[in-house]
This record gives sequence, structure tokens and C-alpha cells, in this order.
Amino acid sequence: MSLPAGPASPPPLQLLQWIGRPTDYLERTARRYGDPFTMRLGLHSPVTGVFFSSPEAFQQLFNTEPGLFDSGGANASSTFNLLFGTNSLILLDGERHQQQRRLLTPPFHGERMRSYGELIRTLAEQVTARWNLGTPFQARRSMQRISLGVILKAVFGLHDGTRYLRVCRLLGNLIDASASPLLFGLRLIFPQDAGPMSPMGQLKAQIDAIDELLYAEIRERRERPDPRADDILSLLMAARDEAGQGMGDVELRDELMTLLVAGHETTATAMAWALYWIHRLPQVRERLLAELDSLGSDPDPEAIARLPYLGAVCSETLRIYPVAMVAFARVPRRPVRILDREYPAGTFLIPNIYLAHRRPEAYPDPERFRPERFLERTFSPYEFVPFGGGSRRCIGVAFALYEMKLVLATVLSRVELRLADPRPRLPVRRGLTLAPPEDLHLIPTALRSGHRDLLPAC
Ligand code: HEM
Repeated sequence: MSLPAGPASPPPLQLLQWIGRPTDYLERTARRYGDPFTMRLGLHSPVTGVFFSSPEAFQQLFNTEPGLFDSGGANASSTFNLLFGTNSLILLDGERHQQQRRLLTPPFHGERMRSYGELIRTLAEQVTARWNLGTPFQARRSMQRISLGVILKAVFGLHDGTRYLRVCRLLGNLIDASASPLLFGLRLIFPQDAGPMSPMGQLKAQIDAIDELLYAEIRERRERPDPRADDILSLLMAARDEAGQGMGDVELRDELMTLLVAGHETTATAMAWALYWIHRLPQVRERLLAELDSLGSDPDPEAIARLPYLGAVCSETLRIYPVAMVAFARVPRRPVRILDREYPAGTFLIPNIYLAHRRPEAYPDPERFRPERFLERTFSPYEFVPFGGGSRRCIGVAFALYEMKLVLATVLSRVELRLADPRPRLPVRRGLTLAPPEDLHLIPTALRSGHRDLLPAC
């Protein structure tokens, strides 16, 4: 069974390009070899990955019979295993994966999700209130303060305190330390913990410090359960499987870490990109402000979440530079036919979100940021795929979009901003994600309404 064509360069070289200049490398490879293409990535035991970007391939990859693909444990890197743990939703497969999804999905939807509306606005106001007129602030970092606060409070409930502030600080540091492409690459190349100075050893020390706090919280909750608590940790602790068995401490820790990490960095990056595009294109900003102002001075979060142009700006932000360049690989357990070719068991079949969002037949003039395209037509779940699809589709879709909309509305209604550097900015790798460069700064130029000081920030 031959695989689609792809670069013939040595796998370590391919890995270097994939890490260092991922979007460039994807685009060049697609131009040369078409769709799909095969890359061989790695040093010691290279992984063969076939990258797909057509809606037809996505439809097949997302809709196969249950149990055909492994997506977690089979392809997880050591970093994933160390960070999330083997009980994480991300690393589970089969029935256990589906069972955990049924448990974890509801808190991020419907009434439960809407109950976080005021909290999201409060945290956004609080971060905005710390900006000074004329002083640049780093876009992604500011947005991360908000999204980290939101996910921590959703997961642990509303009790502030030393432990909450420490988790907040340590998680922020962990994510920052995992961001550098160099460290990301070193951890792929040297996946063993070779002492405290090794890349994996350092990561492990950071994770251990957070684990200590998570286990302390779990212990306390077990000793003093609060029947009225409705945060996600309480919900997980109350859950029972068919045999009446509750989750153990390690299982709880793994799911908490998964939600905390997956649930904030992605959203922060998306919000930072949105701020960039809104302030780069005056016509987008004007239309958005007019739509927001039409709701009056203290709009209901639900009314904000329904605004069509705001929704289109969020979608276009997630289209043009999708935070996740690729969805999780689908790894067949037995040979599988995708489009016109059969792939052997164990091949990494990779939905390539970045290139799917650049297909001119769906998105004419794909490099142009044009939210109107989302008002003019509806895209299929195989054309617009920022959250992946099928049985592994992101469980935080509704929550992330809700948060993006409320934060953008809050920030834009309060402060006038401009980009510190008006030149176009290109995305860079940040760990597994595609983010704006770290030096993307905005400058508050005027207040649109009075500031209020609220909760203490972390
Ligand atoms: C803009 C923000 C976000 C983006 C772009 C994003 C993107 C993604 C993508 C592409 C996947 C892989 C899906 C697949 O392979 O088909 C995923 C999975 C996941 N996401 Fe998100 N995500 C975001 C926010 C969130 C939030 C807020 C949460 C917290 C609840 C979250 C939790 C997860 C989890 C737990 C998974 C694993 C699902 C599974 O394996 O079943 N994400 N996300």
C-alpha cells in the first residue's frame, strides 16, 4: 500500500521545519505534493503522518465506525502523558472516552455555561481596569489572565484564596514554559526525564508543583464535601459509573489538568488574534462597535452572544489562523480506506485544519480577513473545523465562543485601543498551537466608559 507523496528529506529535518515554521512548511508541501501529502517526522522512530484538508476526507475521518481509530494513548507524546495523565479525556479511547465525554460535556453548555456570563464579564473588566492609557500591553498575556481566571472558577467554584492564586500562577508559568518552539522540539527529541536540568525534568517539576495543589484540593473536598457546590470538580466527584464506582484521585487530577490546560490557552490565543484583526482593519472595528452600541449601555450577555457580526468576527478569527493547526491524529487499528486509498493500521491520519481553512473553493481570497463570508453562507462541519469533529470534537466549543464574545464585547465597549505596531503580523508556533507573536501589543488610547475595580486578579 503506497502512501501519498511527500517530502523525501530526512525525518529529523522534516520535524525541524514542522516545529520551526509550521504554516510555511504545510503550505509549501501542499503546493508541491497536493492533497493529501505524507510527512515523516521524528528522530529515533519517525512517525508517518498523512495530512488531509478536503471536506470529503474530513467527513470520512470524523464519521467512521466507533472504535476504528485510536486517537489518544496510541499517538500521545510523552509531554501529553506527563501533563494530562493517562486518564485524561484526550488520551482515552473507546467506551471510556465516550463515557467521560458524557460527563464532561454538559457543564460547558446550556444553562451551566450561561451561568458563567457575569463572571466572564467581571474578569474582563478587572483585567481591562489594570491597563493604563498610552501604555502598551501584551495581547495574549492579558487575554490569558481572563481565560485562566474563568476556567479556574468554573472548575473549582468561586472560592478565592492562596491555593487558587498559586494554581493560577503555576499554570500560567507552565504554559509559558511549554510555548517555546525550541523547548517543544527538545521534548519531542529527548522524551525521557533525564534529571532536573533536562527539558522533560523541568516540565515534570512544574507539573509536580501543580499536582500537589490539585491533590490537596481533592483531599479537602473529600474530607469536607459541600452538597451545594456546583462546580465541575464537585460534579466529577459525585459521578458514579455503572458499577457505582466514583473517580479515584489520579483520575480526578488528570481530568482537572486537561480542562485547565485545554480550556484556557486556546481561548486566550483566539481572543488575542481577534483583537489584532479588529484593530488592524478599521472597517471591521467600526461595524463591530456599531453593533455592540446598538445594545445600549449594560447589555444582557445573551444578547451579546447572539450578535451576528460579532459571531462572524469570531469565526473568521478562528478560520484564518486556527489556534489548532491540526486536529488529533486518527490512528486506524486496522487498514482503512480514506477517499481512494487504503491506509495501513498505525498510520497517523491527520485532519489539517490550517489548510482546510485556506481552500479557495470554500473561502475565496483565503488570506483576507473578511467576517462577512460567515454572514453570506453557512459552512459545513467539514469545511469550517476550528474545533475538529466527530467523536473527538472539542467539548469546549460553546464555552469558548461564549467567552470570546463576552470578553471582546466588554473590552471594546470600555476602551479604545490601537495596535502598537501597525505592520501585519504572522502566526508563530506556541507549543501545539498557532499564536500571534509574543510582541503583539495594543495601546489603550481612551476610555469609552468609566472603569470599575473588581475582584483581585491573579
Ligand atoms: C478557541 C478555543 C478552542 C479551540 C480552537 C479548541 C480546539 C480543539 C481541537 C481542534 C480539538 C481536537 C478535536 C479533534 O481532534 O477532532 C479540541 C479538543 C478538546 N478540547 Fe478544545 N478548543 C478550544 C477551547 C476549549 C475549551 C474552552 C475547553 C474546556 C472545556 C476545551 C477542551 C477540550 C477537550 C477536553 C478536548 C478533547 C476532546 C476529546 O478528545 O474527546 N477546549 N479542542
